[in-house]
Parts: sequence; C-alpha cells; structure tokens
Amino acid sequence: MKKVRKAVFPVAGLGTRFLPATKAIPKEMLTVVDRPVIQYVVDEAQEAGIDHLIFVTGRNKGVIEDYFDIQVELSNTLAERGKTAELQLLDDLQPKPGTASFTRQQAPLGLGHAIWCARDLVGNEPFAILLPDMIMQAEKGCLAEMVALYEKTGGNVISVEECDPQETNKYGIVGKGGDVGNGFRITGMVEKPKPEDAPSNYSISGRYILQPEIFDILATQEKGAGNEIQLTDGMLKLAESQDFAAYPFTGRTFDCGSKEGFIEANVAFALYRPDIRDKVIGNMERLMQTVKPAE
Ligand code: G1P
Repeated sequence: MKKVRKAVFPVAGLGTRFLPATKAIPKEMLTVVDRPVIQYVVDEAQEAGIDHLIFVTGRNKGVIEDYFDIQVELSNTLAERGKTAELQLLDDLQPKPGTASFTRQQAPLGLGHAIWCARDLVGNEPFAILLPDMIMQAEKGCLAEMVALYEKTGGNVISVEECDPQETNKYGIVGKGGDVGNGFRITGMVEKPKPEDAPSNYSISGRYILQPEIFDILATQEKGAGNEIQLTDGMLKLAESQDFAAYPFTGRTFDCGSKEGFIEANVAFALYRPDIRDKVIGNMERLMQTVKPAE
C-alpha cells in the first residue's frame, strides 16, 4: 500500500461571505488568534505525515505563496534585534525547500475542477485533500485518524460528521455500511440532497484520502449541484470500482467560511491557549454583560 505523502489545499475561493475583508486578503489568510486559518489546516496535514503541500490558488492569492516562503528581511531584522523566540517560531513553521507547490485554478468551476488542477503535481499516488474553510480541534488530528483507517482499509477514506437532519442540503451526505477500524464502510454518496432524499445525516466534512484514479474521472465530469463540477459526483463514480470508508470525526469543527464559525474558532482556539485563556474568559464575561446590540 502506498503511503499518503501529498495533500491538496483548494484555496481559490473568492470568500464573498467575508467582504470587504477579503477584497485584498484571501479568506485563508484571515487570523484565528495569531495564525492564518490555512496554518491550522497545514498543521493538521503535517501531523498526519504529509510532506508535500499542494495549493490550488487563483488570482489575488499570491500572499499565500509569500506566507509559506522565507521572508529574508524579516528574519534578518529579528536576528539583529535578538528576537530568538520569534525567529524559532517562523523557522518551525517553514516548509522545507521544494515541499510546497502552487498551481492556479483559472476559472471557478467547482471543487472537483480545483482538485483536477492538481493532477500533475500529485501524480500516480494516493493523496489527501483538506478544505481550508474547515478547521478542526481534537487531541489527535482528523487526517491522522483517517490515515490510521486508510492503513487498515486501503482505497479511499473521507471524514464525516453527523449534521442536523434538516440541513442535509448544505453538504455531501454518505450512506452508512458496516463498521471497519475506527470508521465504517460507505454505501453511497450524494451532494446536497433534500432531507427526504438523504441516505443518512452523516455529512462529508472536508477531509479526504483519495486514489489517483479520481483525476481521470474528474477530467470528464459533468457539472452537478450548483452548476459546478462536484468532487462528490467524481467520488461516486470512483466508488463503482473502489472501496470508500468514512471516519466519523468527533472533535470540534469550525466552518471559517461563515462569520459565526470563524468567530467561534477564534474563541475556541483562544481558550485552548494557556497563555491567554484566563484573560479571554474574563474579557468575554465582561463584554457579554455590557455590550448591547447596535440599534
Ligand atoms: C463542499 C463539498 C461537500 C462537503 C462540504 C463540507 O461543499 O462539496 O460535499 O460536505 O464542502 O464543507 P461546499 O461547502 O464547497 O459547497
């Protein structure tokens, strides 16, 4: 069985829900506590053993590439000023030379199309996909748990979570088969079904381990839900010839593509940090009692 070494991060989205903030800053660079959203997702990938990061970007996303590069002037200035802790932090987060690749999705044709744009960079091996809107908080990362399941099942593995049964039309939904390892077999998948058509309330939550045969399927995939080339439709076709298993993630997931989810992520990761936790709790208690909504 081939090891999962590469991860694809589709970061071409416009972030219209965060305008005007995202007019000049990619939504993936918005800050949760003191790190950009994308750093949390990359951390999760690296914890799972990923050693090559592939970013599918778009126009106006150049700052993501800058973020993962060395900033020589900044490092020199920090060194001159004796800021060793800050220098060490940047060094720890720095991808090694040649381990981060960037390609552009030239038109917003959907998630399936974005993944297909990474085909040459991935090549003929299994790979992970991490949707950067979703950041996850757990003792052991979601992708690391999925790699553990993949080592038992081979094939394809996706992360799922139980959603409100009335909200199945917001997600890809899977059918639940028998248990295997720390997950279960998948009997079917459908993108954004109405509640009455959903096979379960297990929603696809943004982490995937897929076999490279998905690329040939995506190359000819017709547009589906939302008039976009859907990854879920491609996976459905792949499931005709390959196994799919699901890992039900039980940690916390924050949808940083929504304002509420983004703010919740900031609070949750602040509370997770021993250096600022107590102060944040005190401030929040005071604010909740004194701030009234604007008229
Ligand atoms: C995408 C996927 C969907 C998945 C969701 C998770 O949808 O197509 O299957 O459930 O991400 O966030 P999007 O949110 O891009 O519409």
